[in-house]
Amino acid sequence: MANVNEKMEALGKKPSAIRNLFEYGNRRAAEIGRENVFDFSLGNPSTEAPTEVHDAIVDLVDNFGSVALHGYTSAVGDNAVREAIAKDINDRFGAGIDKTDIYMTCGAAASLTVSLNALVCEGDEVVAFAPFFPEYRVFAEAAGAKFVTVPAADDFQINFEACEALITKNTKAVIINSPNNPSGAVLTEATLLRLCDLLRVKEKEFGTAIYLISDEPYRELVYDEKTVVPYLVNLYARTLVCYSFSKSLSLPGERIGYIVVSPKMEEHADVFAAVCGAGRALGYVCAPSMMQRVVSRCLGKTSDKNVYNINRNLLFEALSAYGFTCVYPDGAFYLFMKSPIPDAVAFCEAAKKYELLLVPSDSFGCTGYVRIAYCVSTEMIKRSLPAFKKLAEEFFIESFPT
Ligand SMILES: Cc1ncc(COP(=O)(O)O)c(C=O)c1O
Repeated sequence: MANVNEKMEALGKKPSAIRNLFEYGNRRAAEIGRENVFDFSLGNPSTEAPTEVHDAIVDLVDNFGSVALHGYTSAVGDNAVREAIAKDINDRFGAGIDKTDIYMTCGAAASLTVSLNALVCEGDEVVAFAPFFPEYRVFAEAAGAKFVTVPAADDFQINFEACEALITKNTKAVIINSPNNPSGAVLTEATLLRLCDLLRVKEKEFGTAIYLISDEPYRELVYDEKTVVPYLVNLYARTLVCYSFSKSLSLPGERIGYIVVSPKMEEHADVFAAVCGAGRALGYVCAPSMMQRVVSRCLGKTSDKNVYNINRNLLFEALSAYGFTCVYPDGAFYLFMKSPIPDAVAFCEAAKKYELLLVPSDSFGCTGYVRIAYCVSTEMIKRSLPAFKKLAEEFFIESFPT
């Protein structure tokens, strides 16, 4: 038996359901050809990074000077970059952010692990709302917290009755994710105001501090002008925003993002110091140096969202017409579809017969749904529709009389 950390060994030996499915898709593609596999497993952006990213890289490589460009920045990130990000946030949301509130990180995953490690003390609980990004459990437990999950609300906003009962004197942080992976739901301002009020009431009741961690890699990925994603710093003082450029600029492999520690919390200096300490302890100091400069030149830009919008409408309309019930996604690039049978794992296994790779909702903390990542080519979606139709025929046979 290896003399290693058993929890880490177990994590390493049990890849996520999503990764497993992705690997299955690769094996299947080798057997029958990539064009015959309809892989909806991964949230890997399919649209190109905006041209500004390319232009910034070329200009930096040509003109910035290799030593400065590829050298270490400050542990918290480059000052000019943090200044530019603070200005962008203030221009968009009037949030009163200063560069000293910003810690550059390696994407949202690092933002979350750093934030959780900064906050969690022995005996603390971290609350998340189903359906949630499965890695929240991994990150919270690795930081030493008990991970508590609030069951999903019927409309994929917040189940307040359950939430109220699950926030206790041990709750240190609550994680929200809007636009949501996997449901595509966007939390309304009314929902968020109610949540913030509840947290304040609970803080008072228990005499504790409860932090709101807003995980926002999909902030810009909304498709209707009327869809607003409120900025949490303006609603709740004890907010940490975990942002990433992985999705908005199609840069997931470059590992770049940031944490905002709201200046509105009175203990800001201590929390920011704890973020710096956690970044140091976890080895996340000095986020990728060139990418810090690249993103600071591309603030306010996004990849072509129109492709995702086309995919969203195409899939939603076709799958609804075949008889499936889908949550209409206001944002992100996932369609959450109700499994026609209670066992979504069995349904996804059945879908594999038609080479459709769908993720069962179980690992997102709720049963009976599947996630379809539509950040794929529109052409693949069109080719996959006959397969979805056959799947529907198998499960809703009475709707398709022969
Ligand atoms: C909700 C959510 N949070 C965090 C992440 C991690 O993002 P990043 O690639 O920036 O680490 C993802 C990635 O898919 C996600 O969907």
